[in-house]
Amino acid sequence: MKKVTVPSLVSKKRHGKKITMVTAYDYPSALHVNRAGIDILLVGDSCAMVELGYETTQPMTLDQMVHHCEAVKRGAPSGPLLVGDMPLGTYEYDDTDVALRNAYRLVKEGGMDAVKLEGGSKLRAQTARKVTEGGVAVMGHVGLTPQAISVIGGFRAQGRTAVRARQLLDEALRLQEAGAFCIVLECIPANVAQAITDTLEIPTIGIGAGGHTSGQVLVYHDMLGMTSHPHHKQFVPKFCKRYGQLGHAIVKGLEDFKVDVEEGIFPGTEYAPYKMSDEERVAFDALLAKDEEERQRIHDEAAAKLDDSDEYEKLSLYGSSKD
Ligand code: KIV
Repeated sequence: MKKVTVPSLVSKKRHGKKITMVTAYDYPSALHVNRAGIDILLVGDSCAMVELGYETTQPMTLDQMVHHCEAVKRGAPSGPLLVGDMPLGTYEYDDTDVALRNAYRLVKEGGMDAVKLEGGSKLRAQTARKVTEGGVAVMGHVGLTPQAISVIGGFRAQGRTAVRARQLLDEALRLQEAGAFCIVLECIPANVAQAITDTLEIPTIGIGAGGHTSGQVLVYHDMLGMTSHPHHKQFVPKFCKRYGQLGHAIVKGLEDFKVDVEEGIFPGTEYAPYKMSDEERVAFDALLAKDEEERQRIHDEAAAKLDDSDEYEKLSLYGSSKD
């Protein structure tokens, strides 16, 4: 498959073709995203929540991101444009050199083609410019910016007042001006996303931002129903369409395996493929016959030891004086 590049994405927007983006965090998910022909693969810091079990994206470290990016790169060496999220604490400082150094790690060690930064303040735009000028393509991200959850007070929609919506447009323009090649719009009203998309030259990728963006992104685990925990439904965002129920299929497979093993159905003869020739089998039986008594003695001794230890566990558990 042909490698997706920054210019090819901008050209898609110009020709009115929709852009697809999905997250992936490891080798198998990257293989799937690559095979499906998705345009952009984001190694998102949502990894913290859907892969590592944290409640927010905040704990994700740069070392963890690099580790996941490396695996993704092995699964999708060509094909989608690979974008790595810069985690909280790796790009916010006034000293924009810090961000550039950290972006280089995602490119050089993680094998990413580009990085993503959250927020559209003036400082963030300076950072985006520094990183772009350093040779690393930058994807912006405005609206709901999960790394700033403690500032915005939760995973909630943004840009719902006229003033705030206008600020979001200014943030997006600032990032474009600073050299960003694309901007994620998360959890904002569809009309606001449309106004931003129509104003910008670069593509926008929506998530919970309606249909008038240049493309759409979803989180792999959410869209494929990967986690089938009974309470997980409450954590899957309202805007996420489910394209699979993989979690249920996984648990069903594991339960079937357990039953098969416990009932002696697996492996059976079908999954015991390694055979001896008749000649070798006869020779092996003859070897076994030679020391059959000795082996029986070893077996009986071991069985007696196991019985004794079982007995010991039972007695000490109930406080017997015999030990
Ligand atoms: O981390 C992530 O998965 C993201 C997407 C939701 C855009 O930032």
